[in-house]
Amino acid sequence: MGKTIIISNRLPVRVEGNPEEGLSYIPSEGGLATGLGSVYKGGGNMWIGWPGIYMTDPDLKDETKQKLLSENMQPVFLSKKEIEDFYEGFCNSTLWPNFHYFNQYAIYKRNLWESYVAVNEKFRDAVLDIAEDGDRIWVHDYQLFLLPQLIRDKLPNASIGFFLHIPFPSHEVFRLIPWRKQLLFGVLGADLIGFHTYDDMRHFLSAVNRLVSLGNHQGQINMANRIVQVDPFPMGIDYDKYAKAAADPETISNEVEYRTSLGQQKLILSIDRLDYSKGIPQRLVIFDLFLKKYPQYQGKVSLILLVVPSRDKVAQYMALKEEVDLLVGRINGTYGSMNWTPIHYFYRSLDLPKLSALYRMADVAMVTPMRDGMNLVCKEFVASKLDKKGVLILSEMAGASKELSDAILINPNDKHQVADAIKTALEMSLKDQRRALESMQKTIKRYNVHHWVDLFLTRLDQVTHQQDEFRTKLIDESTRQKLFKDFQSSKSQIIFLDYDGTLVEFQNSPEKAKPDKELIDLLKSLSEKKGTKVVIISGRERHSLENWLGSLNVDIIAEHGIWLRQKGSKWETIDDLNSDWKEEIKPILEMYVSKTPGSLIEEKDFSLVWHFRKVETGLGELRSREIFSHLRFLSEDMNLHVLEGDKVVEIKNAQVDKGRAAAKWLKDQKYDYILAVGDDRTDEDTFEAMPKGAYTVKVGGNRSSASYSIKDPASVRELLKGLL
Ligand code: UDP
Ligand code: G6P
Repeated sequence: MGKTIIISNRLPVRVEGNPEEGLSYIPSEGGLATGLGSVYKGGGNMWIGWPGIYMTDPDLKDETKQKLLSENMQPVFLSKKEIEDFYEGFCNSTLWPNFHYFNQYAIYKRNLWESYVAVNEKFRDAVLDIAEDGDRIWVHDYQLFLLPQLIRDKLPNASIGFFLHIPFPSHEVFRLIPWRKQLLFGVLGADLIGFHTYDDMRHFLSAVNRLVSLGNHQGQINMANRIVQVDPFPMGIDYDKYAKAAADPETISNEVEYRTSLGQQKLILSIDRLDYSKGIPQRLVIFDLFLKKYPQYQGKVSLILLVVPSRDKVAQYMALKEEVDLLVGRINGTYGSMNWTPIHYFYRSLDLPKLSALYRMADVAMVTPMRDGMNLVCKEFVASKLDKKGVLILSEMAGASKELSDAILINPNDKHQVADAIKTALEMSLKDQRRALESMQKTIKRYNVHHWVDLFLTRLDQVTHQQDEFRTKLIDESTRQKLFKDFQSSKSQIIFLDYDGTLVEFQNSPEKAKPDKELIDLLKSLSEKKGTKVVIISGRERHSLENWLGSLNVDIIAEHGIWLRQKGSKWETIDDLNSDWKEEIKPILEMYVSKTPGSLIEEKDFSLVWHFRKVETGLGELRSREIFSHLRFLSEDMNLHVLEGDKVVEIKNAQVDKGRAAAKWLKDQKYDYILAVGDDRTDEDTFEAMPKGAYTVKVGGNRSSASYSIKDPASVRELLKGLL
């Protein structure tokens, strides 16, 4: 295993200052920085990112770089224009609003996209300065969607993980982005892609399916020459750090100081970065409603509103700041009195002992974002409650709500529900508070940030291992040479070739996949070679195969082994086959056609096929599973076999398959060179029927019992040409 390189837009340290006053290096308190601390500080590992400051002075840049390098961090400096177009622009005015369902705020401008591409390339160059093939590379968040593939292009065997810290929106929203395909192909350069929740993962897989036509099996996407695993990994916090901070004397003395000035009123806590996704104005409107609806609480409850400045050059954030200022002023003006301030408002960032004091003191935490990838504030609040007193009101729209079901879960758009939740929280018995907090603490303690890092990196290593296994199967130059040499030196050769997906790419309708001239010429030359027998072994019905290939010197196995035809002879079939069952099965398939536009039935002599290549993505898969379970028991009784192929469901007699058919060719004559090539599940029967020493080759990235794999039909044709 090589070294580990972490890449995120921001380094875990923020650099501040200027040439006159000198620079200061402020370590991030964030979850990612703590979680990955033990990783990047070790050995030759490194964290690559932007130091968060705009610098022009070369000496100062160099000083910063040296200082950061001494702590295993490598800076990527951004120009003023890049900060505007990449960071404030594409990242935070295009991707952020789109991904948080604030599409009305999203701007789609080509120059911002170009800057995004250029900065991702800049990060790639920084990675390539230090990375080698075999290193483990972990890319973080939406600012660097393109980076996995950019690295993959240069280091094809690197182990690359990607984690998205924000929500992945529904395909309906994501597809609005003009550069959606480039974004997907960028991230698909990774071996492992992680999300906070299963819903994010689902949305991502559906976008990949619909926009770039790549399906998945249990989260595994098969690319032409590798696999990509997608999985949810909910991120945790450093539980012990927050529990310890809550017991620290500095925190307790802060609490005493705050309590002295606030008096004995109940406290509701609200902490977020300034961001429209956090629903701060909506929360203020609800607090107003609460005071109006339950006036008995006026004078007895205050809201502590801590807003951390963020992205303040972006127009929407500036407008938001004004909106919050106005609302706080209005509510305090309306309800406040000489001895009671409804809202204590702070627009700044606090250090841990102060933050922890607020977490300790609060009776209620209101974490009510409109949309949030995870939200760590709510977990930190729970971890800080050493006395197990306090209530969490949590938005269903935060990723954390999937884990913290003991909180009072609310919909932030339902104002009355949230106002009532505040009352419920303030009146909750100590017993119920303790019960909910204990349960949530148990979860957060177990699934902490160290656990998250371990889980992700272990999974990445597993996927990389799987990838290596797959890669060793992929036909390389030396295997090709061996295949060619053995072919030349053998006296009699037999080659079994599947048709669709092996010799030609899939087409929308079965009749469109007619062989082109190149293929006809290739099969002609191969089959006319002395000593070489070519057998086309397909699931297609026999007549089209005969029309297309009948004039060549090839043998044909059609309909998955039902019909067999040696060159110059007639079609034969297995004696005891019958097709009476079709009468019963066909009406069932017709019912599925009538409720699934775009689907069709293909009738063969001894089988029926339900095609769904032209059906709306998703619906076809759903219906095919319905058909599969509908026919499962029926087919057993009737001695039928139901096969799921590529966008088809095929029903045929159980006693035939490609493997049994191929075996007939091997029974009567001995060949000293055998090659079988195929791409789908039905070809596995062929591979398994091949004797030891045969070359079996699977097209595409799925798992297979074949001894080798090859990228696509074009590569198969190249291989066959090579034999000649
Ligand atoms: N935070 C902080 N100082 C503050 C307020 C908050 O360092 O004054 C931290 C807080 O402890 C938490 C992070 O900021 O770890 C916010 O993370 P979260 O996931 O809740 O939201 P994000 O800002 O990532 O959208
Ligand atoms: C969210 C994002 C992070 C980002 C952070 C602060 O948590 O997922 O990638 O770093 O907000 O935003 P900023 O724009 O200040 O980096």
